[in-house]
This record gives sequence, C-alpha cells and structure tokens, in this order.
Amino acid sequence: MIARLAGPNELDELLDLRRVVFVDEQGVPADLEEDGLDPACTHFVVRDDHGAVVGTARMREYHGSAKAERVAVLASARGTGVGRLLMDALEAEARRQGLPDVRLNAQTSAVPFYERIGYATEGDEFEDAGIPHLAMRKRL
Ligand code: COA
Repeated sequence: MIARLAGPNELDELLDLRRVVFVDEQGVPADLEEDGLDPACTHFVVRDDHGAVVGTARMREYHGSAKAERVAVLASARGTGVGRLLMDALEAEARRQGLPDVRLNAQTSAVPFYERIGYATEGDEFEDAGIPHLAMRKRL
C-alpha cells in the first residue's frame, strides 16, 4: 500500500471514511466533522488492494506550520502501518512546501501512535468535540 495526495474527485470517498471513523464510531457531531476547511487543505489517501479507501488525512498551513488533521484509518486496517504511511506522506509534502514542523491536536488515545512516529506533546490536555486532546509537534 502507498499513501499519496488525493485528487478533488476522491474527496467524497475520503469524507465517507471520516464519517465512519469520527461520526459513527467516535460520536463526533457531523457538523463539527465537516468544518468547511476541506477545500483549503491538501488531502492524502491510502487504498487497499481492492481500491477501497482505508486511510485518509489532511494538511493545511497554519501560522507557518503544517497542521495535520482528520487522520483516520478504517478500523479493520488499523495496526498495519496505514497511519504511518499517511503521516510519512504528509510530512514529505510539508517539507516540500518548506514548512519547518508539523503540529496536530491528538486525541489522547492516539498519543502513543504519534509518539511512536516522532511527535512530542505540548501543554495541557483539553477537550474538543467531547474528546480529550493534547497538542503535539514534530520538527521536520
Ligand atoms: N497505542 C500504541 N501504539 C500504537 C497505537 C496506539 N493506540 N496505534 C498505533 N500504534 C503504533 C503501532 O503499533 C506502530 O508501531 P510499530 O512501529 O512498532 O509497528 C505505529 O504506532 C504505527 O501504527 P500504524 O499501524 O501505522 O497506525 P494505524 O494505521 O492503526 O493508525 C490511528 C493510527 C490513530 C490513525 C488509527 O488508530 C485511527 O484511525 N484511529 C481512530 C481515529 C483517530 O483516533 N484518529 C486520530 C485523531 S487525532
């Protein structure tokens, strides 16, 4: 499997996966999940051997950093390296754009994943969409 930039005609499929993971599985309100920022973001996709979308993430520049958001892997594909592939692709794109670091707000349950791939927490835990989060950052 590879992670690559997604084209605009793939966005509906990425939104479907995000809905399954964040809205159906985690209970995030749909109007918070779809925040209107997607047109301003660079999107990433991983497909399985059958062409099904199993992972997605998006990136946008925010105050001079790359901000990673909406990192989602289909439950049945977790633990197989899809999340790492997505973040590798996102970091490569951030570097290509000359950005010095990647910042993200991790769900506290996902902090060990991000630590494994080189991110460090910053500051205190906070709540977003009813889910505890920690800010994290990786210098590129
Ligand atoms: N706790 C500890 N380690 C974890 C972990 C966890 N919850 N999730 C992944 N890891 C580790 C893996 O074991 C692997 O380690 P290795 O290098 O020793 O093999 C490494 O992190 C990479 O894991 P990978 O298989 O690429 O992660 P994934 O494809 O399962 O994706 C998430 C991780 C968090 C993106 C995925 O679980 C997910 O989509 N969760 C639901 C949505 C979510 O919480 N998104 C994050 C929003 S901030």
